[in-house]
Amino acid sequence: MQRATVLMDRDFAIGHTDPRLFGAFVEHLGRCVYGGLYEPSHPTADSKGFRRDVLELVRELNPSIIRYPGGNFVSGYNWEDGVGPVENRPKRLDLAWFSTEPNTFGTNEFMDWCRTAEVEPMFAVNLGTRAGDAARNFIEYCNHPGGTYYSDLRREHGYEQPHGIKFWCLGNEMDGPWQMEYKTATQYGLVAKEAAKMMRWIDPSIELSACGSSARNMPSYGRWEDEVLEHTFEHVEYISLHTYLNNYAEDTPALLASPDLMDSFIDEVVAIADAVAARRRSTKRIMLCFDEWNVWYRTRRKNLDRVKAGWPVAPPILEEKYNMEDALAFGGLCISLLNHADRIKAACLAQLVNAIAPIMTETGGPAWRQTIFYPFAQMSRHGRGKVLRTQVESEAYSANYYDPRGELELTFPIPHVPYLKVSAVATEGGGLTLFLLNRHLGDAMEVDIESRSFGRLAIAEALELTDGDLKALNTKEEPNRIKPMKLDDVALDGNRTRATLKPGSWNLIRLELA
Ligand code: AHR
Repeated sequence: MQRATVLMDRDFAIGHTDPRLFGAFVEHLGRCVYGGLYEPSHPTADSKGFRRDVLELVRELNPSIIRYPGGNFVSGYNWEDGVGPVENRPKRLDLAWFSTEPNTFGTNEFMDWCRTAEVEPMFAVNLGTRAGDAARNFIEYCNHPGGTYYSDLRREHGYEQPHGIKFWCLGNEMDGPWQMEYKTATQYGLVAKEAAKMMRWIDPSIELSACGSSARNMPSYGRWEDEVLEHTFEHVEYISLHTYLNNYAEDTPALLASPDLMDSFIDEVVAIADAVAARRRSTKRIMLCFDEWNVWYRTRRKNLDRVKAGWPVAPPILEEKYNMEDALAFGGLCISLLNHADRIKAACLAQLVNAIAPIMTETGGPAWRQTIFYPFAQMSRHGRGKVLRTQVESEAYSANYYDPRGELELTFPIPHVPYLKVSAVATEGGGLTLFLLNRHLGDAMEVDIESRSFGRLAIAEALELTDGDLKALNTKEEPNRIKPMKLDDVALDGNRTRATLKPGSWNLIRLELA
């Protein structure tokens, strides 16, 4: 039996969670839009063609903001193709995913879907094949009230009121050679700055995010952020980060350790952004927008899983099947995000449906929850509030995390990995939510948690997500193989919570004012 202790005080906080920390991502990629959100011929489809069964699961998942329309896709996207009468919209070759884009779903359909799902939209503009001119026209179309060419076009298209989209990403992964018209940091910084200026002149109320590195293992990482912010510092509120965890090496302890590299990534980007501020003697703080994060590797490097021949419409690609160990690593990422609530003000789980997603569907058939659905839904529902500093005493191990880049076999040592990873959130009603990841795969862990300066608390809920088989997953045939179950061995005595966490388990304990 492992033993660990956790100490916290309600008055000692990291920061408050921004509602946008609990976002997700919808890209025109595979069956994310077509056959995912949107399937007019599906038995559950509403009058707009939105799958009601998917909407129901989205509501349960509870994302706050959704990034759209890409991703790599946006770097070749002409937004004009996706508005106006559907019969006039062109079909296009999408060079991001080697498919045919029918454009039957576009900006206005997405806005309708967001209204139905009650989520905030986050839009990305194309700074790959296009630049500031297309971006300024797009924001005029979306956000300007009327009386000009593009705003009146929107009204003609049936949307009298402006969409009022607040959050805008200036391109996507512009440091990556896989991107259509990728750029050096200087080229991108200049384009992003000019696009930002014009977009804000049209709508001063918007918030803008510049592209950071597409991964921590990119060769330009660090220098990229510094140079991009040198150009855009005065024009943006955020810089983006992306992380996809993998288990190529079939090394589960290393997979479970790897969320700690996300902690380093965040701390490093904060340091770079603050160094840019320091050079200007500026008090402005650039916030972080972690707008792609997840586990993704099985369908990443194999070409057949990324691309199907013949330029199909909405091919089944990137349909990663998430197992129990993925859910544990994913839970670790949730904890890393929460524990940086002071600087991460937006984050998007990539993605929402079918393509590397918590929700899976069969075209014409049912929808179900993947294993990673649960940590996200719990975090989004119960992780909002004041994230507390925690003092954790736990035994630790070391790991070597294999994170290849192209042909390069990169390995990152993680010398100190506490078996217990924790986040504690003081909720608005005076309660406390604990997220606890036991990364020990052989031993249960007895945890003793002291929570100071709270009122008299009672256990409201205690759940565990675990399975003897780390490779177990949910399927269409067995959709509930992995789901949260009651955590039995938990007790509260005064301000001490004691619980026994199973080996390899994700746990949620909620305390409420008695
Ligand atoms: O989310 C899948 C892809 O991963 C996105 O299109 C891209 O931005 C990233 O490389």
